[in-house]
Amino acid sequence: MPKASPEPASPGRRSFCILACAAVALAPLSLGAEAPAPQDPRRVTPETRASLGKGGIKDFRKQGGFYLIADGGGIYAVSSICTHNGCSVLLEEGRSFGCPCHDSEYDLQGNVLQGPARLPLKHFHVSEQGPGGPLVVDLGRVVDPHVRF
Ligand code: FES
Repeated sequence: MPKASPEPASPGRRSFCILACAAVALAPLSLGAEAPAPQDPRRVTPETRASLGKGGIKDFRKQGGFYLIADGGGIYAVSSICTHNGCSVLLEEGRSFGCPCHDSEYDLQGNVLQGPARLPLKHFHVSEQGPGGPLVVDLGRVVDPHVRF
């Protein structure tokens, strides 16, 4: 017995769907609404080179998703977003980062110590807002993990 094939959508219905989608997409323009401004990827922190000191670690998980760290070589910003599935990693006893979701572990430089994550945490560009001023982390600029400010 031959199977009945589903009827293709009629051109009238298809045309209506295309017009309806276009109307929804263009509605903000016709109402004079402005497109949302692109978000500035830079985060000006309250920390300075002096306040961070040597060996300082500051948590900015809620201000963009990173930790600001000073080691012997300088200052760096490491992402707090786990590379396995995007959970926020937590500082553990000042010595490593642990992911509460599936137990990945990273050292303070963001290298994977234990999976399931396979990729290291990203590092972001750090600069100063004027000499001795607040440290600025650019979440739009990923840098080599060896870069220090
Ligand atoms: S999201 Fe971090 S280990 Fe899975």
